[in-house]
Amino acid sequence: MDGNGRWAKRRGLPRTEGHTAGEENLAEVVRVCASRNVGWLTVFGFSTENWVRPPAEVKHILSLHKQLFGRVEELNANNVRIQWIGRPFDEPGSKTPGFIQKAIVQAIEDTAHNTGMVLTVAFDYGSRAELLRAAQLSLASHQIDQAVSTQEISSHLYAPSLPPVDVVVRTSGESRISNFMLWQIQGAKVYFTERTWPDFDVNEIDRALKLVHAR
Ligand code: FPP
Repeated sequence: MDGNGRWAKRRGLPRTEGHTAGEENLAEVVRVCASRNVGWLTVFGFSTENWVRPPAEVKHILSLHKQLFGRVEELNANNVRIQWIGRPFDEPGSKTPGFIQKAIVQAIEDTAHNTGMVLTVAFDYGSRAELLRAAQLSLASHQIDQAVSTQEISSHLYAPSLPPVDVVVRTSGESRISNFMLWQIQGAKVYFTERTWPDFDVNEIDRALKLVHAR
């Protein structure tokens, strides 16, 4: 969800306002995607690298996560089940504060009965951390000379039930791939747009979805 900061800067607003607009837009994107029968929507909410941002910005982004995980009524109205991927709370390096842990656990529980779209929020997530952990867990369950298989790595990812990605969306003119779902995006289409995340609207969603069936 790139470009919150740039969206705010263009309007002469503090970066935090851009993140607030980004969270509001995410709620709208979830609604539209659910209405388009998208099965799985996975968003990069906070990376393992984001902790070094200015403390006030981190605090603000965390409060927006609490807000998003608290949108249970809307999620239920749209039959959306929430799940989370990221460094497990009790793992070395995890910095996830207690109030976010609680919000995540509660949102998962409160939407567990929904049968429609699965919204996966990546929080304290990094693909390299995920793959390192999957490799270590695979090796730990092995005899010394056994080779690790791709199936084993897949089964030790944070959310093994996530299907392969159809389309990666990169907003705000970013033309590179980031530390996001590197294992899962093999073969995915990539939708690049100049639009900043708060301006990523229904027309953009439909253009990205068209790629799913494009050759
Ligand atoms: C990128 O914008 C966005 C983030 C670092 C993550 C925060 C995302 C949100 C608050 C949107 C709502 C999402 C959730 C899950 C609550 P940037 O700061 O990199 O913007 P820039 O690239 O313009 O500087």
